[in-house]
This record gives sequence, structure tokens and C-alpha cells, in this order.
Amino acid sequence: MKKRIRVSPSVLSADFGSLASQIKEVEVAGADMLHIDVMDGQFVPNITIGPVVVKDIRKVTRLPLDVHLMIANPELYIDRFVEAGSDMITMHIETISGARLKKEALKLKKLGIKVGVSLNPATPLSKIKSVLSFVDLVLVMTVNPGFSGQKFIPAVLPKIKRLRSIFDGDIAVDGGINHKLAAVLINAGADILASGSYIFGAKDKKTAIERIRHASG
Ligand code: DX5
Ligand code: ZN
Repeated sequence: MKKRIRVSPSVLSADFGSLASQIKEVEVAGADMLHIDVMDGQFVPNITIGPVVVKDIRKVTRLPLDVHLMIANPELYIDRFVEAGSDMITMHIETISGARLKKEALKLKKLGIKVGVSLNPATPLSKIKSVLSFVDLVLVMTVNPGFSGQKFIPAVLPKIKRLRSIFDGDIAVDGGINHKLAAVLINAGADILASGSYIFGAKDKKTAIERIRHASG
């Protein structure tokens, strides 16, 4: 069954000096949700956004907040991202055990928050097989996490295809995505496309978002 394709602009590529207006711009341009990259300088070599910023982002947009945690010990911070107004929380399988992820997922689901698991390009699907039954989405990284503006890694495509054949939930992809790669990824089975520099770097954000959403073939 083909699901609706959703586009999630990654604010990491926005101008943080005018974050509220940049967010409004992608909201008006037709974004389906907003991708928020949380990095701690431990799991990845960069530091970005914390719960205080998410809380203020919550005030300036109606878009669902798709929070991508690239942090060590995510279970210690989940409550704060929930209080800040997250709608979806994705954790990396490299940072949490399957058993602990299950515990957190059940808590989040009771609160009406969608739960995702993410995996790095080098992490095999076998690492997430045991959690597929209780997550809403799998975020397949198409770059090594840490920075926006990196080059898409094509070697992850077979992983997306294989995942599609065993998982009915949403498949999100993240990293180096433009409208051309979106077509390839949608054909491989992706439903949610996170994209930073391609969308925020575009003068006409509506066209950029539409190009991703309607990419295929
Ligand atoms: C990478 C982040 C991505 C990134 C996407 O660590 O998780 O969400 O910001 O930005 P682009 O589309 O520029 O790769
Ligand atoms: Zn991300």
C-alpha cells in the first residue's frame, strides 16, 4: 500500500537568527512537519538544539514537531522533549537497547507521541528487527549524522528496500536529499523525507517541497 509522501524540512539548515520566520516560511510552503535535529557532541561531533529551543519552536508553528535525537542516553532527556511539545521522537539504535526503547516507546505512545528508531548508514537492519513491532517509524540515515549539507550515501538504498518488505510503518530518510534523490528514495519505499539544505537553501521553498513530494520514477 502506497502511503502519502510527507516532507519534513530540517531546521538545522535554517538561519537561526530568524528561526521563527524561517519556520513560518516552510509551514506556508506546505511542509507536513518540522524536523528538529538534536545533537549532543557525544554521539555525534556537533551540538545543536535542546528542549528550550523546541519549546519556543512549539509556540511559533502548528506543524508537528519531528524530533530526531542524536544523543547518548536519550532516555534521560525524553521527558523534557515531551514537555517541550514534541509530536514524534526518534532515537538511534546505536544509543539505546531494544528493551529500553520498548519501555520508552510504550510511555510515549500513551501520551500520543509517535516513536521512531533510527539507524546510521553502517548499522545493519538486523539491529532494529526486534523493535519493529512497536515503533511507528524507522528513520534510515542516508548520511552519517552530525551535519547538514552532506552528500547522500547510495549504499543505503538496498537497506530501505529490504526494510520496506518487512515493515508496514513509516520509513523516513534523512541526509543529503534533493528532489532527484527523493524520487529514488520514494521508489525504494520511503514515506517521509527529511531535507535541510535543499529546502532552506531554495529561494522558492514551496516549489522545493512540492518537487520532493511529487518526485517519483
Ligand atoms: C544530519 C541530520 C539531518 C540533516 C539534513 O545529521 O540528521 O537531518 O540536517 O540536512 P541535509 O538535507 O542538508 O543533509
Ligand atoms: Zn535529522
